[in-house]
Amino acid sequence: MRTPDVLLRRLADAVGFEHVLSDDTVTAGYTTDWTGRWHGPTTAVVRPGSTAEVSEVVRVCAAAGVGVVPQGGNTGLVGASVPVHGEVVLNLRRLNSIESVDSVGRTLAAQAGVTVATAQQAAADAGLMVGVDLAARESATLGGIVATNAGGLRVVRHGTTRAQVVGVEAVLADGAVLRRWTGLAKDNVGYDLVGLLTGSEGTLAVITKVLLRLAPRPVRVQVALVGVPSLDAALEVLSANVDAGHTVEAAEFFHGDGLALVRETLGLHRPLGADYPTYLLLELSNVSEDDVAAVLTGCTAVGDATIGPGPASRLWAYRESHTEAVSAAAASLGTPAVKVDVSVPLPRLQSFEDEVRAVVGARFSTVDVITYGHLAEGNSHVNLLGVPDTEAEDATDTVLRLVVDHGGSISAEHGVGRAKRRWLPLVRSAADVAAMQAVKRAFDPAGIFSPGVLLP
Ligand code: MLT
Ligand code: ZN
Repeated sequence: MRTPDVLLRRLADAVGFEHVLSDDTVTAGYTTDWTGRWHGPTTAVVRPGSTAEVSEVVRVCAAAGVGVVPQGGNTGLVGASVPVHGEVVLNLRRLNSIESVDSVGRTLAAQAGVTVATAQQAAADAGLMVGVDLAARESATLGGIVATNAGGLRVVRHGTTRAQVVGVEAVLADGAVLRRWTGLAKDNVGYDLVGLLTGSEGTLAVITKVLLRLAPRPVRVQVALVGVPSLDAALEVLSANVDAGHTVEAAEFFHGDGLALVRETLGLHRPLGADYPTYLLLELSNVSEDDVAAVLTGCTAVGDATIGPGPASRLWAYRESHTEAVSAAAASLGTPAVKVDVSVPLPRLQSFEDEVRAVVGARFSTVDVITYGHLAEGNSHVNLLGVPDTEAEDATDTVLRLVVDHGGSISAEHGVGRAKRRWLPLVRSAADVAAMQAVKRAFDPAGIFSPGVLLP
């Protein structure tokens, strides 16, 4: 038997024949990422149904010297969840049980393949909430958001995913199962391996279960969409609400050009009475509509605003549909958008975005720059439409160098993946990269997990 046949048979022994997919037509959905930019061949897609099966798959692959790419909902945007050189894709979606919700200790225990939306519903059923939310909630998995330390829409209130993770179970490179699972608020024993595995992008271990902190549900929630002349003005409006004692649950921004794409793609009405250069979407709690209106009326920067009860509000669609609208526009141009997720210090957000438009416009005259993002964290999603594939690296380089000039980060929330590995030295010193490489060697000496992701 040829080596791949032996490997496939061993994988089938581990998870069952029907859960080893090797036909190209079947594996295609697992080997191309959401953007369509990142794809590669796989030896097989393997769908284990338990931690023990994950462990066995890792052992089999390690013995065969074949790389393993852990995959959840495959909604990542930096190419970390798809293979490049024939690695086995370890898809975790069958690990889809919620094990328990503790409404006193406020935690949720679940397998890694549970979607964010399912976890949110389970938390809501117990009168609580998950502190992480993102537009991809129906497909993104808990293992995925932990592996990538996802940010999303509620970082201003709850912090990133890392702040919500109080326990993990993970399969290590030799197949051993690591479990840090006390869930205790105070547990100060040894290195923070939970924090380390969170955001490790599949390079250190395969996360199989997570224990998440839950938060109380906000009350008296208002959602406001505010038209303003600029990002600086949006920041002023945000500050005025903070100064008034309003609790900020979310603070998001987009611009007129992105709104036009969203309206065209989804057939939505104009949200305010006129068009504005920039829009701020605020979700506030512990306030009445009148409280919010009073603050907005006091801000000279506010052009117009609409306020309604939240958290579910039709106004969210104008912000959340940007990814889909950009993707639809890219599809009509026949080339994937170049997506560059970055953050800069708040006082420099306006100048950063102005310069991105100017510099990209000068370098690529036919490219559209659509930005939107998470205002409170200075997190701008820079989307370049119409960049030929051969120039995507160059375009990314142009944006990332500008980010560094503005004192920012080359990855705010999407991670490094394969997409930004090349630019790591722009923001991490040689000593820092060497320390990360030492951690990688300690966890995964043979380099079987997600080769080519994150580290040079
Ligand atoms: C968002 O905030 O909408 C997501 O991070 C996805 C994107 O960048 O398009
Ligand atoms: Zn985002």
